[in-house]
Amino acid sequence: MSEVSVTKDVAPAADALVVLSKVNKHFGALHVLQDIDLTIARGEVVVVIGPSGSGKSTLCRTINRLETTDSGSITIDGKPLPQEGRELARLRADVGMVFQSFNLFAHKTVLENVVLGQVKVRRKDRKEAEATARALLDRVGVGAQADKYPAQLSGGQQQRVAIARALAMDPKVMLFDEPTSALDPEMINEVLEVMQQLARDGMTMVVVTHEMGFARSAANRVVFMADGRIVEEAQPDQFFNNPRSDRAKDFLSKILHH
Ligand SMILES: Nc1ncnc2c1ncn2[C@@H]1O[C@H](COP(=O)(O)OP(=O)(O)O)[C@@H](O)[C@H]1O
Ligand SMILES: [Mg+2]
Repeated sequence: MSEVSVTKDVAPAADALVVLSKVNKHFGALHVLQDIDLTIARGEVVVVIGPSGSGKSTLCRTINRLETTDSGSITIDGKPLPQEGRELARLRADVGMVFQSFNLFAHKTVLENVVLGQVKVRRKDRKEAEATARALLDRVGVGAQADKYPAQLSGGQQQRVAIARALAMDPKVMLFDEPTSALDPEMINEVLEVMQQLARDGMTMVVVTHEMGFARSAANRVVFMADGRIVEEAQPDQFFNNPRSDRAKDFLSKILHH
């Protein structure tokens, strides 16, 4: 069975939200993304896994143009990603991103962190933006922290604020790049639960993670990367129980049996 046909079964092209087509990217001599073809359907949750250095973060960063590409195309909801300018700012706002390090504005309150982009990028009025921010902070379980500064919160709380901040832009797709990797173990679940709920609510999500429990329960599809390529993709059960490539078998044996 070809890998392409697996993709099409899971993500019908008619409902494609994010489409990467023959995307290539180099860092100097390093060919970090090699002919990446990836279609993400509206409402789909794609978990990206693979060894360190395989290009997972770069893949995420190209989807919202934090990195440029050398060739190929990326479209979000049918629109090609522009190179720069106001149009790029608007399209980028359609792509929410949550990083390993929470990246909150340290000198602004939690509430202000979630208000800011709505006012500056989405041009919402402040009252409305504050109401949205409070509702989102409640939704991720940190409503009581709204007037504190990020440093007064635990890592798990800060990461949930970062999720609320991304959601406040009303994104079409959310990218998560190892959102729990910097957290103490007891805080991982509170973040994963917020992500699980988002997935259940129908958000389109691309999640780079080593949390295989999350991948099994929340993903519609697992994409396995190695050396800048998508080596294998499948539904989680199929991928974890019956990986096809030697690279995936080797990777899984290392992370599941250590
Ligand atoms: N800005 C950069 N400049 C040069 N090399 C980079 C840069 N960012 C990442 N790389 C290299 O690209 C490769 C893929 O990195 P990355 O996408 O971060 O992988 P992953 O997230 O899967 O660990 C690695 O070899 C990394 O060292
Ligand atoms: Mg990474």
